[in-house]
Amino acid sequence: MSRPEILRTVAEFRARADQVRAEGGRLGLVPTMGALHDGHRALMREAARRATATAVTIFVNPTQFGPNEDLARYPRDLDGDVEQCAKEGVAFVFAPPISEMYAPDERTRVHVAGVSDALCGASRPGHFEGVATVVTKLFAVAGPSVAVFGKKDYQQFRVIQTFTRDLLLPVEIVGHPTVRESDGLALSSRNRYLSADERRRALAIPRGLAEAVSRFTAGERRVRALTEPLERALDEASLRVDYVTVANADDVTPFPTSVSTGPRALLALAAFAGTTRLIDNVVLGEDPAPLVVG
Ligand code: PAJ
Repeated sequence: MSRPEILRTVAEFRARADQVRAEGGRLGLVPTMGALHDGHRALMREAARRATATAVTIFVNPTQFGPNEDLARYPRDLDGDVEQCAKEGVAFVFAPPISEMYAPDERTRVHVAGVSDALCGASRPGHFEGVATVVTKLFAVAGPSVAVFGKKDYQQFRVIQTFTRDLLLPVEIVGHPTVRESDGLALSSRNRYLSADERRRALAIPRGLAEAVSRFTAGERRVRALTEPLERALDEASLRVDYVTVANADDVTPFPTSVSTGPRALLALAAFAGTTRLIDNVVLGEDPAPLVVG
């Protein structure tokens, strides 16, 4: 098992990426904020299938956190993360200090109109600008041929696909299905904040989503009838709802609760277990149920 090379500066990362291309290789990029888990590792394997060398970036990006969010206490474990990258054959780990990514007098943000506005964009003002800005910078440094993102963060995936297309960036964006625990809970770096009781109650999320999938499969298209089982499951588990929304799966525009969907629609939620904010989603008409209901 070869160790990845750990790069701390933009100049070093750019030089290594240039080298990969000069040798005729294809660089695959997996941007992360660290505290890596099997979901991140699935993205690394996906990148490895599509590229000749994989780079993982580990950067807790301050511009995507709101003033009352968990930036300061976001889990950090660089040694453990590098270990996991090594097991997946990753060539480079880029883990820069904030000063490498943001000049003190920086002025620029990437704003993606429309697709950033609803769901997490409404609850976390400025969040997707922070995400789009840092991912644009990472693309500018690495010049990857392909970059892999998880559909666990479905709206983020759509935001990234959208600015990549609009800015004519020469990188293929690949979306990977959500990786879940055997009981259906989506893997997340924030799951480590959960107490045993919160972890158990969080299972209402995949259960509610699974019920919505089975209703949709049985022909239900009314928005209210699709959100209802999920809202009930969250309520019964005392998870505080931030949003439960059915939206257009392309532009992430919410459907009014009184209408019916077409053959494909995003059902997404954010809810708090204690102080931990969890998000999850399924694309109805596309994704399998997160777990077997029964
Ligand atoms: P982070 O939350 O560390 O996630 C990094 C990548 O892993 C994202 O593409 C995310 O969607 C994916 N991911 C997380 N959990 C997953 C799961 N259970 N299954 C599949 N993929 C999963 O998302 C970010 O970091 C940041 O916003 C970032 C894009 C790095 C920009 O700072």
